[in-house]
Amino acid sequence: MTAAADQDRRKREAARRALELVRPGMKLGLGTGTTARHFVDLVGEQVKGGLQVVCVGTSKATEEQAKALGIPLSTLDDLSDLDLTVDGADEVDPQLRLIKGGGGALLREKIVAAASKRMAVIVDSTKLVRVLGAFPLPIEVVPFGLAATRRHIERALAGLGLAGSIRLRGGSGPFITDGGHYILDCSLGAIDQPERLGESLSMIPGVVEHGLFVGLARTAIIAGAEGVQVLGDPD
Ligand code: 5RP
Repeated sequence: MTAAADQDRRKREAARRALELVRPGMKLGLGTGTTARHFVDLVGEQVKGGLQVVCVGTSKATEEQAKALGIPLSTLDDLSDLDLTVDGADEVDPQLRLIKGGGGALLREKIVAAASKRMAVIVDSTKLVRVLGAFPLPIEVVPFGLAATRRHIERALAGLGLAGSIRLRGGSGPFITDGGHYILDCSLGAIDQPERLGESLSMIPGVVEHGLFVGLARTAIIAGAEGVQVLGDPD
C-alpha cells in the first residue's frame, strides 16, 4: 500500500469512529475536505439503511456530496442549533486547538462548528502537532482593500513576534471562497499563543475569518499506525 493510500485508510478509520457519536434524530454539521468526505459517505450509507438525521454542509462541495447521497439537508436558519459537527483539520494540538481552512471552507466551517453543541475533529495522525503553525494559517479576507488588509495582518503578526511569508492563495487567479472572498496563507512556523493571534486577526477590518479554531473542538479522533486514539470527550 502506498503512503497516500495508507493515510486515506486512516482518514476513513477516524471517520468510522466518529459515526459512533451519531444518534437517530440528530442535527449534524458535515465538514469539508478529504477526511470529512469519508464521514459524509458513511452517513450516506447509514441514511440509506434508515438512519434519520438532518444535516448542514460546511461548503458547496459537501452539500453536493450529501445531496448525491440522499442525505436530508437543511440550513442554520431553519435549525436553531446542531447536535454535532464532524470535520477534518490541518493541524490539531493536544489542547484541541486547530488550524483549519486548507480546503478554503474555514468561514462556513467555523459558523457551523460554533452553532453546534459539539464539534468532533477527525484526522490521521500526521495532523497531530505539539505546537500549531507548521501548516500555513489561512486567513479569509475581503478582496476590496487587499493590500491594506495585508499590511494590517503583517503588523499584527509582528506585534506578537511572528514573522513569515504571506501568500495569496491561487494559481493563475486568486482562489475564491464560497463566500466570494480571498485567502491569505501565512507561513508562521510556530504559533505559541493561538488565542492572542486569533483575537488580533479578528479585529482587522477586511479579515472575514481566520483558520484558528480555539475552544470549539470537544473531541479529536486521530487514526494512526497503532489504531484510533481519542483526545477529549470520547462519547
Ligand atoms: C477545509 C478544511 C479541512 O477540514 C482541512 O483542510 C483538512 O482537510 P483534509 O481532510 O482534506 O486533509 O479545513 O477548509
